[in-house]
Amino acid sequence: MQFEVLTLFPEIFSGYLTQSLLHKAIQKRLVAVRLHNLRDWADGRHSQVDDRPYGGGPGMVLMVEPVVKAVEAVQAMPPESIAVSSETQTKQDAGAAETAMPGEVILLTPSGERLNQRLVEELASTAPRKILLCGRYEGFDQRVMDLLRPREISIGDYVLNGGEVAAMVLIDSLVRMVPGVLGDEQSSIEDSFSRGNRLLEYPQYSRPREFRGLTVPEVLLNGNHKEIMEWRRQQSLLRTRERRQDLLDAD
Ligand code: 6GU
Repeated sequence: MQFEVLTLFPEIFSGYLTQSLLHKAIQKRLVAVRLHNLRDWADGRHSQVDDRPYGGGPGMVLMVEPVVKAVEAVQAMPPESIAVSSETQTKQDAGAAETAMPGEVILLTPSGERLNQRLVEELASTAPRKILLCGRYEGFDQRVMDLLRPREISIGDYVLNGGEVAAMVLIDSLVRMVPGVLGDEQSSIEDSFSRGNRLLEYPQYSRPREFRGLTVPEVLLNGNHKEIMEWRRQQSLLRTRERRQDLLDAD
């Protein structure tokens, strides 16, 4: 999976990109992340990328011209080569080396469709090249959306200062779905909210068996795997009913 991130603040991503799991996936060439500064496509002495909104109002708007030019330029760039297994190969991969892959344009905005694991799974199964547009200020000139027809995505009902943190959330959730990233012992299929499990996680315990009078449930110590599985399933259900009844009501 290849991410092309368009942002006014590429530095925000540096710590995240060198973090263990994603860093390893990048080193294994399962994932590639490329940062592009929107300002590189701005004209004029001041490289202006934002302007006051017509009609007045607070804040600034990201200008249509640099944003559209940036996305088109990135779409025309050959994708970085990433390891493609037959398992992950899609129609878009075929011939990717010779021809540009336009990729799927995703715009991070609080007005977008809300991200959940279902959407993560859907995005993981479509175009392997994702062009992520991070907004700032009061958002984008409407013509950015009219011309590029991006998929608009929000990570929740609260307002962030920009799309960068949301883009990292999206990348983080998507790389878990790339075969080989998690390793065999961990499977994203079993993750909460995933296709295979719409329940919350059951409680986990590790050593010591007792701490400040709190003990590990007996069932986890007896080695009876069938009983342990049943207990965990029951705990997941109980927890989901208490905290997130809406998950049980869905579908
Ligand atoms: Cl994607 N962007 C911003 N600025 N705020 C958000 C968001 C995105 N998702 C939730 N809040």
